Amino acid sequence: MSKVVLITGGSSGIGKSVGEYLTDNGYIVYGTSRSPEKCTDSKFPLLKLDVTQSASIASCVLELISKTNQIDILINNAGVGITGPLEEIPTEEMKA
Ligand SMILES: NC(=O)c1ccc[n+]([C@@H]2O[C@H](COP(=O)([O-])OP(=O)(O)OC[C@H]3O[C@@H](n4cnc5c(N)ncnc54)[C@H](OP(=O)(O)O)[C@@H]3O)[C@@H](O)[C@H]2O)c1
Repeated sequence: MSKVVLITGGSSGIGKSVGEYLTDNGYIVYGTSRSPEKCTDSKFPLLKLDVTQSASIASCVLELISKTNQIDILINNAGVGITGPLEEIPTEEMKA
């Protein structure tokens, strides 16, 4: 039976590429995005998720379980990069 993979942040970059690769290789892939409705070219379904909101995490996992009844692999990829001197980065940005 095919493995179910959840990739957080599957709308662009590394998460999107890994999701496409796994889809092409027989995995059942679900990605996530804060705005899945904007991602019209995704090769795999995207669920709504903001990893900074615990209610959003619970809702995303419940939605996936209701569709697949299982999650075999989690690729916890969502995130943002910050560049610049540490002392100039706002605390809220670092926490996010
Ligand atoms: N690229 C690099 O050189 C590099 C180096 C070191 C570490 N990383 C890490 O590797 C991961 C992927 O990098 P990337 O270059 O592929 O980045 P990317 O193209 O900017 O993609 C980031 C992904 O994370 C999602 N995302 C961002 N904030 C989110 C949030 N609050 N809740 C849910 N999803 C969120 C975005 O989805 P939406 O915007 O659609 O919600 C998007 O799908 C990131 O965690 C990054 O920090 C990357």
